[in-house]
Amino acid sequence: MNTKYEPIFQSFTFPSGVDVKNRIMIAPMTHYSSQSNGEISEQELLYYAERSGGVGAVITACAYVSLDGKGFQDQFSVDDDSFIPGLKKLAETIQSKGAKAILQIYHGGRQSPPSLLPDGQPISASAVASEGEGKPVPREMTETEINNTIKAFGDATRRAVEAGFDGVEIHGANTYLLQQFFSPHSNRREDQWGGSLEKRMTFPLAVVESVKKAVAEYAKKPFIIGYRISPEEGSTPGITLEDTLQFVDKLADQKLDYLHVSVNHFWNGSFRDKSHSQSRIVKIHEKVGSRVPVVGVGSLHTPDEVVEALETGVPLIALGREMLMEPKWIEKIQAGQEDQIRTTLSKKDQKELVIPDPLWQRLMNIVGWLPVVD
Ligand SMILES: Cc1cc2nc3c(=O)[nH]c(=O)nc-3n(C[C@H](O)[C@H](O)[C@H](O)COP(=O)(O)O)c2cc1C
Repeated sequence: MNTKYEPIFQSFTFPSGVDVKNRIMIAPMTHYSSQSNGEISEQELLYYAERSGGVGAVITACAYVSLDGKGFQDQFSVDDDSFIPGLKKLAETIQSKGAKAILQIYHGGRQSPPSLLPDGQPISASAVASEGEGKPVPREMTETEINNTIKAFGDATRRAVEAGFDGVEIHGANTYLLQQFFSPHSNRREDQWGGSLEKRMTFPLAVVESVKKAVAEYAKKPFIIGYRISPEEGSTPGITLEDTLQFVDKLADQKLDYLHVSVNHFWNGSFRDKSHSQSRIVKIHEKVGSRVPVVGVGSLHTPDEVVEALETGVPLIALGREMLMEPKWIEKIQAGQEDQIRTTLSKKDQKELVIPDPLWQRLMNIVGWLPVVD
């Protein structure tokens, strides 16, 4: 292996005590291929087995914590104990290849397509549709629904512990329910769950508390709790980078194992305020300091690009689309074959890349997601 890539291969110990053998995590990626009842499928297990051999940790696709938060066709579920055996298979598949297994736990809120919901009615902080033509108007959640959802995140964490996962990642990003409570666009409440920036943090922080409580009660060994945020949103009004810097300051004091900053490009500055051109990930890393490790992500493909990102001091890097195109990313670097790392998706390679059909169809059809070649 070329010695310039050594920074990628340094082990890392999370604050909880769980360690990983290198600095690369697989970013959470939905595969739309679970069984229709929410159980993990055989083709998903094969997809994970193919990718878990080299990386330090795998963050799974998002699993819904309650049926009223299901967000994708054939998404998998962590909303009932009956799913624990399937989840156990998923954790074991990842761990048997040498990676730590982290389950992403999720509620879609107003982004849930009505057709996937039992009563066809998405719910959210307030009855405000997301921007865009024809978006459904969600129903404002009642106090009871809010408390039930907070509990559902705790219950999902207990199931992740019982299924043998090494951790959970709370999905607070990408416009889903936790972000909807923090956003001034989707949260217009005037009760304890909204009204000021501080109060808009109440729901996500209550979810963190619920998850921590479940870990304290059920985990018999160190267990990772990560939190994923999106630093900005494009709507008016919308979350600004300034809002996020205040939020991460609070999150940094929650004794989390990591803060995962979800952006499309690691190096991009603010898109709302062009005068802030510094990478948002690096800015957040500087804000939280040594209080919580930051996971960076976004359009990093080659080992040289990843080393450059690690040089900022951000300790961990997640790779998403790159791990779809090149499941053996780590192994090829170790073998000195970094020049053979694929950074495009060939239409002929579905079988070799072990990508389930429904995910493959989307990758082929959604223009701009991945560089697809013949
Ligand atoms: C097919 C696909 C599915 C995704 N599903 C999720 C998901 O379930 N949860 C999530 O937080 N992000 C999801 N993302 C976003 C990725 O985790 C990641 O942040 C994004 O792809 C940018 O990183 P990359 O440039 O390394 O791909 C998904 C991305 C892709 C391409």
